[in-house]
Amino acid sequence: MQRNLTESWSIGPVEMPTRVVLAPMAGVSVQAFRRQGRRFGAGLVCSEMVSAAGIEHRNEKTFGYLRVASDEHPLAIQIFGSEPGAMADAARMVEAAGADIVDMNFGCPVRKVTKTGAGAHLMEESEFACRVVEAVASAVSVPVTVKMRRGVEDGSRACLELAPRLVEAGAAALTLHPRSAKQMYTGRADHALTAELVELVDVPVIASGDVTSRETALAVLEETGAAAVMVARAAQGNPWALREIVEGESFRPTREEVAAELIVFVHEAVRELGEQRAVGFLKKFYGWYLGHGRFPKPFKQELVQLRTTEDVVTRLYAAAPGAAKIVERLEAELPAAEDETVLGELPISVYGGG
Ligand SMILES: Cc1cc2nc3c(=O)[nH]c(=O)nc-3n(C[C@H](O)[C@H](O)[C@H](O)COP(=O)(O)O)c2cc1C
Repeated sequence: MQRNLTESWSIGPVEMPTRVVLAPMAGVSVQAFRRQGRRFGAGLVCSEMVSAAGIEHRNEKTFGYLRVASDEHPLAIQIFGSEPGAMADAARMVEAAGADIVDMNFGCPVRKVTKTGAGAHLMEESEFACRVVEAVASAVSVPVTVKMRRGVEDGSRACLELAPRLVEAGAAALTLHPRSAKQMYTGRADHALTAELVELVDVPVIASGDVTSRETALAVLEETGAAAVMVARAAQGNPWALREIVEGESFRPTREEVAAELIVFVHEAVRELGEQRAVGFLKKFYGWYLGHGRFPKPFKQELVQLRTTEDVVTRLYAAAPGAAKIVERLEAELPAAEDETVLGELPISVYGGG
């Protein structure tokens, strides 16, 4: 059955206008990324993972702020941890901050996270995993969801054993990235497993892994019967990929459009993270935006070496003067900052992954 990517679908009472979900990515899915994703057609956007234990003990290295703006909804905020009580507290906090959905990370393969019993480790601890989901589901009134890997070891089918129990414990939807934690990002996502999962549970399943184009999105939906596809790496510095996947028309942005999107992104990142953190955070985005043959390679090197974001913006305007009008229009359309909820002192993980 061919799915229409612009058909709406729901998780509990939350309705998504398209079947493309912008993935949670640690160190990437800041507010600027999420609201840009919505603008380019993602039906649901997700925050990067935030640490439940860190919220309790204030012991994470990086404290950040999670801003939730009126143009981000529907928005899932992802939490990670292994202690049911701390996860429930974190869930209440993110619900209060405006999350439409609380997502739990059962997929992060990074050792610093799994050794605390969180992330992909929960795929092998079914009793405990269910207690976490139960605690979170009973703490909030919004739907709660779980994002899984296939399991820890290569070839694992742990996700199929665990999934029905997670649903029983209160998960209103499941996302599967069908690689093992050991695989990290190597090999291919095995969506035959996603198809089995869809058969097994009565809640919507989101398919994550290797969706890079309209073609792969439709193929994965058809192969799996999933409710939606999730896009992660293909959307880095490339919101046009989302538009192409959703609308079906191939779209090559002009240099002016690329520079304008990057300038708005820089402005937003500085507002969100402050100049000092934004300078480091943004460096990876320069390559992502300026690649794809959009600008000559040395230009990226030049931007990475600049010391302030103001210098970066000046250099981008010099390279693409026509960007100014587009920036003006895009920034005029952003909702007023007063409409935002800010969740302060939030331990946004520096380790992330899934
Ligand atoms: C840089 C990076 C950070 C990630 N951080 C998270 C995260 O915080 N939470 C999560 O559930 N998955 C995370 N993931 C996994 C993605 O959400 C997604 O499942 C995975 O990248 C496969 O999708 P893709 O092939 O479209 O990239 C991360 C992936 C990348 C590349």
